[in-house]
Amino acid sequence: MEDIYTLGIESSCDETSVAIVKNGREILSNVIDTQIPIHEKYGGVVPEIASRNHIEAISRVTKKALEEAKMTLEQIDAVTPTYGPGLVGALLVGLSYAKALSFAINKPLVGVNHIQGHIAANYITYKELEPPFLCVMMSGGNTQIIHVKDYTEFEVLGKTRDDAIGEAFDKVARVVGLGYPGGPKVDKLAQEGKPTIDLPKTHFENMDFSFSGIKTAVINLHHKNPEINKADLCASFEKTVTEILIENISKAIKLTGIKTIALAGGVSANSYIRKAFMELKQKGMEIYMPDLKLCTDNAAMIASAGYYNYMQGKRDTLDLNAIPNLKL
Ligand code: KG4
Repeated sequence: MEDIYTLGIESSCDETSVAIVKNGREILSNVIDTQIPIHEKYGGVVPEIASRNHIEAISRVTKKALEEAKMTLEQIDAVTPTYGPGLVGALLVGLSYAKALSFAINKPLVGVNHIQGHIAANYITYKELEPPFLCVMMSGGNTQIIHVKDYTEFEVLGKTRDDAIGEAFDKVARVVGLGYPGGPKVDKLAQEGKPTIDLPKTHFENMDFSFSGIKTAVINLHHKNPEINKADLCASFEKTVTEILIENISKAIKLTGIKTIALAGGVSANSYIRKAFMELKQKGMEIYMPDLKLCTDNAAMIASAGYYNYMQGKRDTLDLNAIPNLKL
């Protein structure tokens, strides 16, 4: 079979990234221009500033991705941008650029759902992984248990009813004074602490999540007792959210009978969560988790998902719009 090269473009939040991937699995280049230092001083992503910086970066990042892959635009088979979910102004930059490229080189435009991209990060890390499997999707904007039935076929079994897990990590970090982005900082500090503090868990009959209660509990504990051991608080927070994740994936395993589990999204970089899921191997589960650098936003995962959409025959036209709350 002829090799297929997809050019992925990611601009849904604060990373401008362009990647070239061969046959959905092999990274030829994955250039990531992060805006974290720009947003750090505001304590979070400022949408308007993000859009402006994507505009400034996108041509440079694309040029670099082509150079690193030693390819020309003419060798690309499809242009595959993220078109949602995400910040609308940020998404529009990558999507508009992708439309212009696709038109200029006369190659198909194939839109990609950002969540589908996070799942696909596993296909790059594990060449042998194939659907069906269960995916625990945990990022700054989403927390879902997904039944991945096929490369382009998904069923959401459970989702958050309020905050995303990454949002809760970022909020906890902000309250205890660790700064933005909080997840990696909570991860680091928690390693120095012990999970000795009791925090509340919300349970639902189905596989839905709620993280606002635990987030508020951490905030209240810290406000009532500013001397509280921050490392212990972070360790307790991580332990409790991990227990919630494991409870819900256990329900999904019971419901579907599937014992292959993949993690996805920025929070799947968390060392405590990775360790806890690895321990499920002892109970007969097969566990997959993306390489650390593919957990957070990048265009290689988008180019991989784009390849599977392309092979499925998905084609978009130039009127494809950015959809901030796009669902799987
Ligand atoms: O997937 P991602 O890069 O962006 C979205 O698509 O939302 O996820 C970003 C989220 C942020 O909330 C960040 O704090 C969190 O992932 N994160 C982590 C870790 N690394 C990133 N959370 C916990 N532990 C980490 N090591």
